[in-house]
Amino acid sequence: MAPVLINPSILSADFVNLERDLQRIATADYAHVDVMDQHFVPNLTIGLPVVRRIAEVSPVPLDVHLMVEDADRWAPQYAEAGARSVTFHAEATQAPVRLARELRAGGVRAAVALRPATPVEPFLDLLAEIDMVLVMTVEPGFGGQAFIEGTLAKVQRTRAAITAAGADTWVQVDGGVSRDTIGRIARAGANVFVAGSAVYGAPDVAAEIATLRTLAAHPTTEA
Ligand code: DX5
Ligand code: ZN
Repeated sequence: MAPVLINPSILSADFVNLERDLQRIATADYAHVDVMDQHFVPNLTIGLPVVRRIAEVSPVPLDVHLMVEDADRWAPQYAEAGARSVTFHAEATQAPVRLARELRAGGVRAAVALRPATPVEPFLDLLAEIDMVLVMTVEPGFGGQAFIEGTLAKVQRTRAAITAAGADTWVQVDGGVSRDTIGRIARAGANVFVAGSAVYGAPDVAAEIATLRTLAAHPTTEA
């Protein structure tokens, strides 16, 4: 069984008090770091120098989600910057297998992300090359968007193919993950849950992480 992991997205943290807000998620599994270049997505966040410092002070390892063009050029530099896991978008790479191999050779977990309208099928024969598939459950670019229900079927197909292949690839979801949605996403087969606004918008961040973890690990049939 794949482990249940809760990775809060620091996109919803206070960027002026990042070190404090990283400490607030010390009970999480990874800190999810959204890198956006204003070209692949219509938003701009942080780049290499800031990620490097975050890696130095974070109490948990970094799960870097690159929403940038030309991932073949940039992704390996995030491995060097101190990430534990580097996710590049399928739509932003010319050679996903070469890139994944380069990332693994750099000592990090390699993951491929799919926009809501990007099919997973082209990657199902390549599962041995990647450590995680990120099924985007909103259009990438912004926190606080509503979960897209139609993405659940892709989560199910991804998990079914991984099980059939006997692989240990993780399935991550990102976007609109909350108390209301995490149960059915877990039942669909995801095991890594990114949550930004749900975690940082909660009155007690640590308690929210614990609640999401419980709901993901023991999804009830009705939730
Ligand atoms: C969106 C980012 C997400 C974002 C999720 O493009 O990839 O990581 O922070 O935010 P919520 O959890 O608020 O939907
Ligand atoms: Zn993300």
